[in-house]
Amino acid sequence: MGSWIRPGLRVCRIGALALTVLTALVVGCSSDAADAAEAERIAELLELRPGMRVADVGAGDGEWTVDLARRVGGAGHVWATEVKEEHLAEIRERVEEAGLHNVTVARGDQTTNGLPDACCDAILLRLVYHHFTDPARMRRELVRALRPGGIVAVIDIEPQEHWRKLEGVPERGGHGIPAEELIAEMAQDGFRVLRRQTGWNGDEDRYGVVFGRGKEGGRPRRLRSSGPAGTPRGEGEEEGQRPGAR
Ligand SMILES: C[S@@+](CC[C@H](N)C(=O)[O-])C[C@H]1O[C@@H](n2cnc3c(N)ncnc32)[C@H](O)[C@@H]1O
Repeated sequence: MGSWIRPGLRVCRIGALALTVLTALVVGCSSDAADAAEAERIAELLELRPGMRVADVGAGDGEWTVDLARRVGGAGHVWATEVKEEHLAEIRERVEEAGLHNVTVARGDQTTNGLPDACCDAILLRLVYHHFTDPARMRRELVRALRPGGIVAVIDIEPQEHWRKLEGVPERGGHGIPAEELIAEMAQDGFRVLRRQTGWNGDEDRYGVVFGRGKEGGRPRRLRSSGPAGTPRGEGEEEGQRPGAR
């Protein structure tokens, strides 16, 4: 019996291997396309122009930092902050590999963001705000680091009940933060909504909100719709918590 089962198993194994390779190729390609599309959307959200001074707070492995730094060019500057030592090392490595000389990598923590006073025209928080254990303190840090007329762009996600629980963060019904809660919290420190986008990068649970402060805090402008986007990626995918992960 074993003699006729084995060849069948071999065929199955070869078939499974081919399928895995094919899936990796397809998923890999679509993720790259999604990354490029999201990079464009982030640039649009931040209204990036050469010469701008920008911060990527909670930059993770620095993927978006590199893109921001290329876009603001040699006349501009990017600060990338992280609380985790391993991420700081990854960011430095990526920046060096990319041959960029306009990036400062800074360590932050849950009380200070590590940015200089009034350094930035725009600050990006991509899937980071809901990680803050003391959001009020971090908001005050955003105010401190923002130049007059500067903006803060928050990309975040509605609470995901089944994702891993984050230690020490306010209870919000899951991993993430409702857009309305974020807006109400930001308002406590004088931030008002300049622009807002739902269905960020094709994921209905994600959103992007651009905040300004006071009279100088930018002028309201409508973003074009994100349209049918490629595979969304970010926190869930990285943590294997979302289907279609890469
Ligand atoms: C889900 S990851 C997002 C990484 C990156 N922004 C991205 O979109 O790929 C959240 C990151 O925020 C970092 N983080 C959490 N609290 C932070 C804080 N107070 N200051 C800076 N980074 C923080 C975490 O270490 C983690 O790398």
